[in-house]
Amino acid sequence: MTTGDAPARSFQQRFRAWYKKRLPIFWDNWVSAAGSMIALVAVFLLVLMFFLYLYNMLVGRESNPYVDLIGFMILPVLLSGGLVLLVLGNLLRRAREKRDGRVHTETMFAGKDVVRRAVLVAGGTFVLLIGIGLFSYEAYHYTDSNQFCSYVCHEVMIPEATAHASSPHANVKCVDCHIGPGADWFVRAKLSGIRQVFAVLSDDFHRPIPTPVENLRPARETCEVCHWPAKFHGSRLVTYQRYAGDRDNSAQTTALVLHVGGPGGAAAGTASGIHWHVDPGNEVRYRHVDRERLEIVEVVQSTPAGEIRYLRDDADQHERQGSWRVMDCLDCHNRPTHIYDLPHRAVDLALATGKLDSAVPWLRRQAERVLREIEPDSDTAALVADRLRAIYAAEYPGDLAALEASLPATAAALAAILERNVWPRMRITWNTYPSHLSHFDEFGEFGTGGCFRCHDGRHEAATGAMITTDCDACHAVLAMEERNWDGLQGITAEAFLRR
Ligand code: HEC
Ligand code: HEC
Ligand code: HEC
Ligand code: HEC
Ligand code: HEC
Repeated sequence: MTTGDAPARSFQQRFRAWYKKRLPIFWDNWVSAAGSMIALVAVFLLVLMFFLYLYNMLVGRESNPYVDLIGFMILPVLLSGGLVLLVLGNLLRRAREKRDGRVHTETMFAGKDVVRRAVLVAGGTFVLLIGIGLFSYEAYHYTDSNQFCSYVCHEVMIPEATAHASSPHANVKCVDCHIGPGADWFVRAKLSGIRQVFAVLSDDFHRPIPTPVENLRPARETCEVCHWPAKFHGSRLVTYQRYAGDRDNSAQTTALVLHVGGPGGAAAGTASGIHWHVDPGNEVRYRHVDRERLEIVEVVQSTPAGEIRYLRDDADQHERQGSWRVMDCLDCHNRPTHIYDLPHRAVDLALATGKLDSAVPWLRRQAERVLREIEPDSDTAALVADRLRAIYAAEYPGDLAALEASLPATAAALAAILERNVWPRMRITWNTYPSHLSHFDEFGEFGTGGCFRCHDGRHEAATGAMITTDCDACHAVLAMEERNWDGLQGITAEAFLRR
């Protein structure tokens, strides 16, 4: 191949001579032939993928996760697999030739044989590719299914999956909130998923899983696929059936007109009500000094009207500490789907829906007590029944017969509540995952969490303005645990007006 070669040899002839000499490497045995073909196809597709990717980026189009999966996860594997086969085939060939004492000379780069091989190898590669494509498509779907997320890591995910299954989002897939659309989050999720699988296998994970989830995808990109702030408007009447802790389990009503609110009109920044925080024109940033985001020492509100900075009364003890976060849906709706009950609320609901019999004296009070005392076990209902029987025998012997009459149903209902909310193996108990959507503590008293992390009368601006603590800013309380609430009579339109 030096330039001193006879000029009579054309380039074509020289290339052929060169190629023939090297042909065995690629072509002379089945394994290498298949390997080189696979590698070649993979390279071709990768180049294609790359240009597709560039094109998508240029026109700003969302790439398709299926295509990306095959492109960026399968093709490189295919390419390296092909190369491995190529080398392997040649090693085998060499070994065989050595054993047989043959020296390799012949190559078959002519005639029908080559055509036949080429067709066979191409056909085989094609079938293989389709097979891999179908397989990875199915694998992709499977790893995205609720079933995979919840039951592959049974012990770890079962509390969340159970809560999810009885929530307003039961029909929304885990991945719609935890991953969302687009390939980059998809790859990130699968990578951290692989890490998590190892964590579960080696039993090396937190119990309970800590929240807030650190690298949850921003709500703007997940929740807002289905809910968008500009849609919210007006107020909403909510009523709750509650029961008192007296002998009669007296029924009570709590009723609120919640000023959910939303944008005032087409113009951004004219919003009011609770969803004011997420109006496109507004931004609320806050600095928290604990991991759980409960201790909020500084809040900055930016609206088209300007910026206001509120400092908590103890902010000077926390100067430059903590981290900043822009408020989004999850700062209030942190439990949109993994909703855990509290004992008193769960008992109220069971009484209201007839799962517990309100004719059993003292049941509201004692059922709550038993829920707080007992952990689920292999036979939770028996534990509950024994405990209730013991309490009534000691404290209300006169009512023991009334308890016994419906004890099996009562115990079953309470066991179901326990098994839905308390998970000893994951160390999840009552209020392990508090909701931010209100301002009550785990016993139903006014607390310091939820809205009251900021609306607590401790956050003040330089002007002296406070983040509001006016009950009526958020809701009109029509009835608060009232025994004989007379419905909406006497309530004026005023209560429903957005503030
Ligand atoms: C409607 C949206 C949504 C769906 C659907 C959803 N999740 Fe979540 N999930 C969340 C949010 C939001 C958090 C974060 C809570 C926080 O940071 O305080 C979370 C947190 C978690 C946690 C951490 C523990 C906890 O309770 O906070 C686990 C585990 C989890 N999800 C698993 C799942 C599984 C498994 C599924 C499907 C069966 C699922 N999620 C479906 C929104 C969702
Ligand atoms: C795939 C679509 C989808 C996604 C993503 C989604 N939701 Fe929903 N959401 C729904 C549906 C459907 C309902 C049920 C509406 C109904 O029952 O009337 C709902 C209901 C709700 C409700 C009302 C619950 C109630 O008690 O009535 C809230 C609050 C909510 N979603 C918040 C969120 C938040 C926060 C996120 C992001 C973490 C989110 N959603 C993500 C579809 C979605
Ligand atoms: C400042 C706290 C807060 C923020 C931030 C917030 N919400 Fe809400 N949202 C509420 C409250 C409180 C309710 C009323 C809850 C109820 O009805 O029990 C509500 C109600 C809802 C409902 C039910 C509406 C209805 O009228 O039925 C949906 C859906 C919802 N929010 C979605 C979102 C989404 C999506 C975001 C983020 C863009 C968001 N919220 C941000 C506090 C908030
Ligand atoms: C991170 C701090 C923070 C949290 C948490 C928070 N808010 Fe606010 N909120 C603010 C700030 C700042 C303002 C603006 C100052 C003001 O109006 O008092 C505001 C204003 C409001 C307003 C008045 C909006 C208007 O019409 O002008 C309502 C209503 C409200 N919040 C409800 C809620 C509810 C309900 C929750 C809990 C579910 C909540 N907020 C949680 C910081 C917060
Ligand atoms: C920053 C907004 C905000 C302020 C201020 C506020 N609340 Fe609330 N309150 C809420 C939200 C949000 C809920 C939960 C509504 C729901 O059930 O979805 C709630 C729920 C309630 C409930 C129903 C509790 C139940 O039984 O479930 C009562 C009663 C109540 N508030 C009373 C008050 C009173 C009294 C004040 C004034 C001292 C007050 N709230 C101040 C936002 C606020």
